[in-house]
Amino acid sequence: MSEEIEVGPTAELTPGKIVGAGPYAVGNSQEDLFAVTRRCRHLLADLADGSIASDGCLVCPWHGAKYDVDTGRMVRGPQGIFAKIPFLGTTYKILTTVLPLRRGKVTERKGTIYVE
Ligand code: FES
Repeated sequence: MSEEIEVGPTAELTPGKIVGAGPYAVGNSQEDLFAVTRRCRHLLADLADGSIASDGCLVCPWHGAKYDVDTGRMVRGPQGIFAKIPFLGTTYKILTTVLPLRRGKVTERKGTIYVE
C-alpha cells in the first residue's frame, strides 16, 4: 500500500489551481481533482508550477506541453523552439502513450485533500 500524503484544505484547491504534494502535482481541473506525477516527460519541469488550459489539460510551465490529466498522456508536444524540431512533439506523445504520467488517487476527508 502506498503512503498517503496530505495536500491541504479543499477550499484552497480552487478550479485552475495546482500544488505540489510529494511526487505529485495535484490540481483542480474544471471542478475535478486530479494528481499526476510532477515531472514533465520533456525536460523534467515541475508540473506543479504549470497551469490549467481552458480544455482542462495541464500545461507545462517551461515549454507548454499539454497533458490529459485523466490519462497522463501528452496531447500536445513542447512548444516554442522545440515545436520546430521535426517529430519531437510526436515522439513525446508516443512516449507518454507507452509511459504516461502516473496518476495518484485523490481523496477528500473533512475538508482536507489527500493523495496516494
Ligand atoms: S519541460 Fe515540459 S515541455 Fe519542456
